[in-house]
Amino acid sequence: MTILQSNSDEATEQLGRSLASLLHDGMVVALQGDLGAGKTVLSRGIARGLGVDAAVTSPTFTVAQEYELAGQRYFYHLDMYRIDNEEAAVAFGIDEFLFAPRAITVVEWPECIRGLLPEGPALLNLELQHLTEESRLLLLPERIFHQLQSAGLPAGVVRRQSEGEK
Ligand SMILES: Nc1ncnc2c1ncn2[C@@H]1O[C@H](COP(=O)(O)OP(=O)(O)O)[C@@H](O)[C@H]1O
Ligand SMILES: [Mg+2]
Repeated sequence: MTILQSNSDEATEQLGRSLASLLHDGMVVALQGDLGAGKTVLSRGIARGLGVDAAVTSPTFTVAQEYELAGQRYFYHLDMYRIDNEEAAVAFGIDEFLFAPRAITVVEWPECIRGLLPEGPALLNLELQHLTEESRLLLLPERIFHQLQSAGLPAGVVRRQSEGEK
């Protein structure tokens, strides 16, 4: 795990844009973090990076929000906050979003559907944590960090430390 620090919501959104360029069709981003940690801000950045111009707001009440991308591909933005368990997620039809070959899917509050998520390279686990009012930490796999770093980290984003360096 690598830990990045974002010093503003704009920086977090830019980080989302950068992450978008590393995502492939069929991938699911499981985005963990408390209320207000910045999951929707990061998701909006990912959407923007994928070419979504429409407003990207929290799908807390709709559970799933669908955005069409170029070439009949999709960005799915899911929020499992109001889904109680895996059974309820399956009844909702979650598989359609988690195993869509021509879509990239971001899941906020993925904890209660862990067992339904794809395994292996199709899954990217991210976690946001509160640091101060204006700053957040993003925990991400080291290989993703290296890819981000070679493209250049956005302004307002700095590396904190990795495990083993503490
Ligand atoms: N560094 C930061 N990154 C992301 N959001 C931030 C940051 N600093 C302040 N914020 C604010 O925190 C809130 C995050 O909200 P949101 O993305 O909806 O959280 P979540 O989806 O995790 O509940 C927004 O009001 C945003 O402006
Ligand atoms: Mg949210």
